[in-house]
Amino acid sequence: MTPRSFAFIAALVKSRSGLVLAAEQGYMLETRLGPILKREGLADFEALAERLQGPGGHRLAEAVTEALTTNESSFFRDGRPFEHLRRLLPGLAAARGAGMPLRLWSAACSTGQEAYSIAMILAELAPQLGGCRADILGTDISQAVVTRARQGRFSQFEVQRGLPARLLVRHFRQEEGRWQVAPDLREMIRFERWNLLADLRPLGRFDVIFCRNVLIYFDAPTKARVLEAMAAQLAPDGVLYLGGAETVLGLTDRLVALPGERGAYRRAGMAALAG
Ligand SMILES: C[S@@+](CC[C@H](N)C(=O)[O-])C[C@H]1O[C@@H](n2cnc3c(N)ncnc32)[C@H](O)[C@@H]1O
Repeated sequence: MTPRSFAFIAALVKSRSGLVLAAEQGYMLETRLGPILKREGLADFEALAERLQGPGGHRLAEAVTEALTTNESSFFRDGRPFEHLRRLLPGLAAARGAGMPLRLWSAACSTGQEAYSIAMILAELAPQLGGCRADILGTDISQAVVTRARQGRFSQFEVQRGLPARLLVRHFRQEEGRWQVAPDLREMIRFERWNLLADLRPLGRFDVIFCRNVLIYFDAPTKARVLEAMAAQLAPDGVLYLGGAETVLGLTDRLVALPGERGAYRRAGMAALAG
């Protein structure tokens, strides 16, 4: 790939998704975009860059961006945020009462393990939630992973990563060598394609936001922009969870860390509300 076509593709992907591609990732680009070149009958990356600027470029740009996302995920990833969520939910449910559903959002949900982990916690805690309903939304920029998340079908390898055996037995059925999430759990979640760089206001207000292991791929101004947009969608007593390598420090003062909790944040000025 020539430096010119790399620079063109990197700029396009960044403007569409926020993902920053470093020059040393040229090889990764070549590997991931190879199938697109083949499918489109393009000789090289110069030809791809040209096609991206021509008619139909928009659809192709979507495919290129999707191909460059990293969709690694696992059930109950890193443990701690999910333990914190278990402690948080009864209080939040009591504050909402039976008439108002709790709204939880797995932003950048990839293939759905995070949203299904949240759903399993809600199912387990149901007796302590006083009849409070819960809606979970899972979103991702990639249509391919949103489709997979909706299907709720996982390989043996995927269920072996982080999913306790008792929850596998309780919520999954084995079908044709894959593990299918049970209908009652699937019904708790709506999966939708959504770009974190787009206006988040149409998604509404959330009590809990998981935005984990996606900001690491963005530059500082993009991280700040997404964090501020999320703070605006977070309920006053709500909590935002970030990934282990992510922080709000130096990016925004609209969110502050919960004392003693790494990776869990509340809106600034709401100290007494989210324990
Ligand atoms: C590494 S996965 C993280 C999955 C899950 N949150 C976790 O921690 O296991 C990152 C996901 O972010 C998505 N993504 C990247 N840029 C995005 C954007 N601008 N808007 C929404 N999703 C995005 C990718 O498609 C990918 O599925």
